[in-house]
Amino acid sequence: MSGAEDLEAIFDRFSKQTNPIFKKRDVLRHTYVPDRLPHREEQYRTLAHVLAPVMANETPSNVFLHGKPGSGKTAVTKFVLNVLKRKAEKENINMMFSYVNCQLIDTSYRIFAHLAQDLGKSVPITGLPTDEVFNLFKQALEEKKTMLVVALDEIDLAVKKSPDIFYPLTRINSDLKHSKLSIIGITNDVHFKNKLDPRVKSSLTEQEIVFPPYTAPQLVDILVERAKEGFHEDVVDDAAIGLCAALAAQENGDARRALDLLRVAGELAEREGASRVTEEHVRKALEVIERNTVAEVLTTLPIQSKVILLAIYNLSKEKITDEITTGTLYEEYCNVCNDIGLEKLTQRRVGDLVNELDMLGMVTSRVVSKGRYGRTKIVSLAVHAEEIKNALEKDYRLGTLLNS
Ligand SMILES: Nc1ncnc2c1ncn2[C@@H]1O[C@H](COP(=O)(O)OP(=O)(O)OP(=O)(O)O)[C@@H](O)[C@H]1O
Ligand SMILES: [Mg+2]
Repeated sequence: MSGAEDLEAIFDRFSKQTNPIFKKRDVLRHTYVPDRLPHREEQYRTLAHVLAPVMANETPSNVFLHGKPGSGKTAVTKFVLNVLKRKAEKENINMMFSYVNCQLIDTSYRIFAHLAQDLGKSVPITGLPTDEVFNLFKQALEEKKTMLVVALDEIDLAVKKSPDIFYPLTRINSDLKHSKLSIIGITNDVHFKNKLDPRVKSSLTEQEIVFPPYTAPQLVDILVERAKEGFHEDVVDDAAIGLCAALAAQENGDARRALDLLRVAGELAEREGASRVTEEHVRKALEVIERNTVAEVLTTLPIQSKVILLAIYNLSKEKITDEITTGTLYEEYCNVCNDIGLEKLTQRRVGDLVNELDMLGMVTSRVVSKGRYGRTKIVSLAVHAEEIKNALEKDYRLGTLLNS
C-alpha cells in the first residue's frame, strides 16, 4: 500500500458512508443538547411551571438550580428555554432569554455587558465603571419592552469574582416600567447558597430545583438513548454501556463522564478498525481520559509548579514512607532548581504553589501535629506517579532529572 493509500484508508474510516461505528459522533459530545432527557422529567416540568407565567405576560419567580456536576442542570435549562422561546414566538409573546456561562464570562462588568449586547446594545469590553454598564443594560432592557429570562450558569464562579453581582439584578424590576427580568441561577457548589447575602439569597432562591446524581440504571437509559442516535445499530455491546454507567455512577452519577467514556470507547474501537464497541474499549477509554486530565493540567502549569511536582515525585520514589514534609520538599525543590539553573522561590511561596497543586487534584497536603515540635504539613501525590512521570518527561528541562 502506498503512503497515500494508507492515509486514504484512515480518512475512509472516518467518512460518513464507510464509518462502521459512528452514525453521528457529535451527538455523543457533551455540548449537544438532546431533546429527550430521561430521568429529568420532574426537573424540567418544574422549571417549565416556574417559567410558564411568561405566557401570560407575567414575571416568573427567580429560580435556583443545584446539583452535582453532570446531573443535567445545563441540559434541562437549555431544553426548557428553547421550547419556551419557540412557544412564545408562536403566540406573539414578547420574551427573550440570555444564557451566560459564568465560567467564561465571570465578572459583573462582563456579564452586564454581555446581557446588554444580547439586547442589541454594544458596550466596550473594558473602561467603564461597572455601575454604568449595568445602567446601559437596564436602559436597553427597558427599551425592549420585554420579559427577559437570564440563565446564569456556574454562578458560584461569578460570585467569587464579583460578590455583589446579584444585588442590582435582583432589584432591577422595581426600576423597570415596561420590561421585567427573572433569573435562573445554576450551580454545582453545594455550599453556594450559604455564602450569599441573606437579601439576595431569599430573592434568588424563591424557587429551588434539586438535581440528584444519576444512578447506574438511569445512566444506562441515558446512554442507550444517545447511543441510538450516535452509533450505528447494534454496534455497541450492552456490557460496554453498562460499564460506562457503572463507572460514572461511582463518580457522583456524572452523565458527562458516562458520555465521554462511551464516545472515547467508540473512538478507540474505530481506530483499531474493530466492528463493535466492547467493555474492553471502555476500560481503555477510562485510562485515556484519566491520563489526559493529568497531562492536560500539567502542560498548563508554570515551570515552578512543575519543579515542585518533580521534587515530590522524586521524594516519593526515594522514600519508604510517603510522608514528605514541606521542609524535605523545599530542600529537594532547591536541588532541582540548582540543577536546571532556575531561580528559587521562598519556602512560603512554594507552600502557596503546593496549595494550588492540591486544588488542581495533583497532590494532597494535610497538616499533622508533631507533638511538641508543633505542626507540619505532609505532602503526597494524588495521582499515579507514572502519569506524573510521563507528563514531566516531555519537558526538555526536567526529563533527565526524574528518579526512576
Ligand atoms: N437526563 C439526561 N438525558 C440525556 N442526556 C443528559 C441527561 N442529563 C445530562 N445529560 C448529558 O450529560 C452531559 C452533562 O449534563 P449537563 O451539562 O447538563 O450537566 P450539569 O449538571 O450542567 O453539570 P455541571 O455542574 O458540571 O455544569 C450533557 O452532555 C448532557 O446533555
Ligand atoms: Mg452545567
